Amino acid sequence: MQKYIVRGGRPLHGEVRISGAKNAAVAIIPAALLVDGVCRIENVPQISDVTALLKILERLGARVRFLNRSDVEIDSRRIRTTRVPQELAHKLRASYYLIGALLGRFGSAEVSMPGGCNFGGVRPIDQHVKGFAAMGADVREGDFIVARAKDGRMKGANVYLDVISVGATMNIMMAAALADGVTVIENAAKEPHIVDLANFLNLMGANIKGAGTDTIRVYGVDALHGGSYAIIPDQIEAGTYMAAVAAAGGDVLVRGIIPKHMDCITAKLQEMGVEVEEEDDTLRIRREGELQRANVKTLPYPGFPTDMQPQITAVLALARGTSIVTEGVWDNRYRYVGELTRMGAQIHVDGRTAVVEGVERLTGATVQAFDLRAGAAMVVAALAAEGVSEILNIQYIERGYEDVIGKLRALGADIESAEYSEAPEEQPRQIG
Ligand code: EPU
Repeated sequence: MQKYIVRGGRPLHGEVRISGAKNAAVAIIPAALLVDGVCRIENVPQISDVTALLKILERLGARVRFLNRSDVEIDSRRIRTTRVPQELAHKLRASYYLIGALLGRFGSAEVSMPGGCNFGGVRPIDQHVKGFAAMGADVREGDFIVARAKDGRMKGANVYLDVISVGATMNIMMAAALADGVTVIENAAKEPHIVDLANFLNLMGANIKGAGTDTIRVYGVDALHGGSYAIIPDQIEAGTYMAAVAAAGGDVLVRGIIPKHMDCITAKLQEMGVEVEEEDDTLRIRREGELQRANVKTLPYPGFPTDMQPQITAVLALARGTSIVTEGVWDNRYRYVGELTRMGAQIHVDGRTAVVEGVERLTGATVQAFDLRAGAAMVVAALAAEGVSEILNIQYIERGYEDVIGKLRALGADIESAEYSEAPEEQPRQIG
């Protein structure tokens, strides 16, 4: 097992370049299965979720070739099977996108249920299944989701999502791209990665309108062709580095972002007294003085992202006054709070609300990364904390953040990774 050792309490200075968006990449890579040709996908983040998905595509018969560190070519002309074995699918939640992609292209998919419990509860996929069923698929749920389109091809349908779901919106878009007729997704999610997936599919010949609004229309086409596409920068990776500067102090240029995607995070940090200046594809973050309290409520895009909730809570732990954080997307996303309190944070959780009493300083401690963003919050807190912190289970962090050590060291952080062998007190859970 690997851990990070962080000697905190040093302000961050310098520049960090943001990688391609994890939650766009984990949808666009499966979407390449819809293409009867060769896709070149650029700006792919080097994270373990991407490696796991590419392995699955190869197992299905796709030819996968890295052209350099971040550009990959996927040839899905000779797919052999539509069954995704359990030992590969259980590794990541995003394997549910394989259902929509395989159903869309071949009218058939057998994918082992995306694994385990998450944030301490169940992460349902009922809205994905409802969409596939409306489009004429027979879907059976067990250890494997077995889905078959009647007559071998999906049929356009109207789908009204009962909850705004990123995954269901993208999965239904994929299942609909090659369907017979028009699919209308209402109450659709509007995250930047939804637009990115639509742009990717449209470039390959799909006809998708309205992505980024709450009504998406997918006009089914007969086939998709190859092409080149570059994934958008990662809003949450950028937000995490912004949070790190807010917590630890300093002056950092965050490069290669789309400023519009950062507005919800920028506005909140400014409210807390952090200086944020925007120029082209760069944000300059400065924090010298005291952090001020703020209330944060997570919501679907363009609201404040749930995937930044643990990191912003780590920052608020150091702000003057009492802040209220409300989780508006997931039922249970505060498991990490116990770890922050080991570092001296004062946070009380009641259901979906956390009351954060700001403290003057955090102190280094040994903490666990329970999941990807919980782990990111531990890094943010450890960078600001006085003394040495050890963060266990960092494989969860590396599922979604590229080269954490390299990027943070370039900002002057004192961070290294090391092996450890003792079993964690509590098993962390899979999310993402
Ligand atoms: N929901 C349902 N039924 C469904 C689907 C979702 O009730 O069929 C509920 C969920 O329980 C949740 C809400 O709807 O309360 C939103 O879930 P959503 O489907 O939007 O989440 P997801 O697609 O499974 C993606 C990201 C998550 C991110 C959420 C929300 C990927 C692979 N994962 O999950 O990212 O938190 O959207 O923005 O894209 C992360 O990156 O750390 C991460 C967890």
